[in-house]
Amino acid sequence: MSDRDQSDGLDHLFAETVRETMDSSVYGAWRDIRDPEAVPLSFGFPYPDSFPNEELVSAAESLFDAEGDRALQYGGGEYADALPEVIADRARDRGIDCGTEEIHVTNGATNAIDTVCQTVLDPGDTVFVEAPTFMGALRLFRNYGVDIEGVDMDEAGLDIEALAADLAAREMAGEPLPKLLYTIPNFHNPTGVTLSAERRERLLELAVRYDFLVLEDDPYGQLRYNCAEPPPLRSLDETGRAIRVNTFSKTIAPGVRTGWIIAEPSFVEQFDRINAGGEPSFTRGLIARYAEDGRLDRAIEELTAGYRERRDRMMESLDERMPPETTWSEPDGGFFLWVEFPEGVDAEEMLPDAIDEGVAYLPGSFFYHEDGGTRNARLSFSHASPDSIDEGIAALATAVRAEAPTVEADD
Ligand SMILES: Cc1ncc(COP(=O)(O)O)c(C=O)c1O
Repeated sequence: MSDRDQSDGLDHLFAETVRETMDSSVYGAWRDIRDPEAVPLSFGFPYPDSFPNEELVSAAESLFDAEGDRALQYGGGEYADALPEVIADRARDRGIDCGTEEIHVTNGATNAIDTVCQTVLDPGDTVFVEAPTFMGALRLFRNYGVDIEGVDMDEAGLDIEALAADLAAREMAGEPLPKLLYTIPNFHNPTGVTLSAERRERLLELAVRYDFLVLEDDPYGQLRYNCAEPPPLRSLDETGRAIRVNTFSKTIAPGVRTGWIIAEPSFVEQFDRINAGGEPSFTRGLIARYAEDGRLDRAIEELTAGYRERRDRMMESLDERMPPETTWSEPDGGFFLWVEFPEGVDAEEMLPDAIDEGVAYLPGSFFYHEDGGTRNARLSFSHASPDSIDEGIAALATAVRAEAPTVEADD
């Protein structure tokens, strides 16, 4: 007979980290923030017409023509094998001098972050994140029983001086230093801001000085609308501390569930070992075949035009319609902008009214590990059509005016 306390049914059989996090909302809880009548400025999803359905069908046909059954066998055929080289080639175009021994292919960026966590985190370690940050990453870190600490951000990204001061204070007080710092340097989710080049250099210096890894997550970096690309952290890194994660979710489609990690070969060996046997090799072959004829590059150009139009429409509409006390970030790329509502507005409390008015957004508080973001919201311009975006912002402006009635109408 087991002497385990069974009064909780079967819950005691869950791992401790699961028991500790099981009451928190599931990944999809925010996806319920929708209403068929409300414009979905909540979803960070690509717009439906962005998907290259026909191109993928034709790539699949030519993959079968080239490889026959091997395309579907364990391990896949030559095209699946070629994907790391396709990725390395594209990374070199962005200034990252890497070979295939530095590439580990994953099932999307989420799986990539999880793989890094499995490889480097022990329960009780400290992980630094931007505050706010991508809630999917917060969810992953929570699974590992680590202490999560937020570092403030401003319009140039992670506040490096605040980070430096925090690290120095921890060292002085003998408090734990981070093992990992997670950053989204380009067109950050949820704020839309980009980490300046100087701060990237400084971040890597701090990583060396205080002995931590920098996890660079860059799903939006190629969707840039009016700015030059600051160097990727991995391209500046001479010590192997920057681990870079990326995905085809935003440049092909989330459903292909394929991403990658670029890291030192000694890390990649461990990633390969941890994930061995989980590769969807058919999808990998399909992507390599699709990317071969320049189709991916052409698609990125079209996507950039489609998202730029949506971003511009949202900014114009905000300018035109929002009460004067409302401010927002001005992203140069990506999917999101970050709004700060007037004093007295609680974005979470306002949401049901906003949905009644005809718009859904994600309250800022969703993106903080601890308190924060009460007056903020993430607005996504990636999914709705330009006209719907305009309608959504009109509905949001009405909701804000009703919530903060002291705000003077600006028209
Ligand atoms: C910053 C960030 N990282 C990772 C992801 C997830 O990427 P994937 O779909 O490849 O798992 C997202 C998607 O929303 C994201 O915004």
